[in-house]
Amino acid sequence: MHAVGIVAAAGSGLRLGAELPKALVPLGGRPLVCWAVESLRAGGVEQVVVAVPASQQAAFTAVLPGDVHVVVGGDTRTASVRAALATAREHASDQERTAVLVHDAARPLTPPDVVARVLAALAGGARAVVPVLPVVDTTVVVDADGVVTADVPRAPLRRVQTPQGFERATLMAAYAHAHGTAAEFTDDASVVRAAGIPVQTVAGDERAAKITVAHDLRMAELQTERPR
Ligand code: CTP
Ligand code: MG
Repeated sequence: MHAVGIVAAAGSGLRLGAELPKALVPLGGRPLVCWAVESLRAGGVEQVVVAVPASQQAAFTAVLPGDVHVVVGGDTRTASVRAALATAREHASDQERTAVLVHDAARPLTPPDVVARVLAALAGGARAVVPVLPVVDTTVVVDADGVVTADVPRAPLRRVQTPQGFERATLMAAYAHAHGTAAEFTDDASVVRAAGIPVQTVAGDERAAKITVAHDLRMAELQTERPR
């Protein structure tokens, strides 16, 4: 199965608060986006498209390998993935079933094994698959005053990571279905589920954690300093 990777790297990283867009922030001396591209490739993805902020195209092109395709992203993650998906379509051959793996630049230390598990599930016939982890903390619902109103049974809950994998035609159809709706999506599996397509799960990995705030970057730095 031919595998195309899309890296969503067009965010600004407001919560991280760095001077650079988050995907260009260095970890162990290398921009986060380079780590994300590398783990997709190490896990079996052949061709990578990266969505970047419009104002930073040159900076991204300068740090990414020459065979990575750079496209301008959008105002939301969904818009950025949509822009990259248009390019992924042009690149892929129509002869073969194609997998599209959508990954956050903000998950630099994702082990290639996670990528490989997602690809294996697609090769096994899944149309959509996400890596997940269990919820370990007690989880509750609060009201507007912060008062706990309910406990949430935690056993069926999962935290969803990336890369999220899709059969290309399924993802394209789901994005077409979502176009023009007011719904806001925080990941690609929710776009696919909104089109009525079931989403399978495989085991995620704590090392695929997303870098959101400065503490997350410090934790990632510690991991890169030690043997993994
Ligand atoms: N992303 C994107 N295009 C956007 C917004 C986000 O490609 N318009 C990407 C980010 O670059 C990131 C991933 O989606 O790799 C996950 O988003 P998030 O962690 O929220 O990153 P940012 O939006 O950059 O951060 P913040 O929300 O703190 O500004
Ligand atoms: Mg964001």
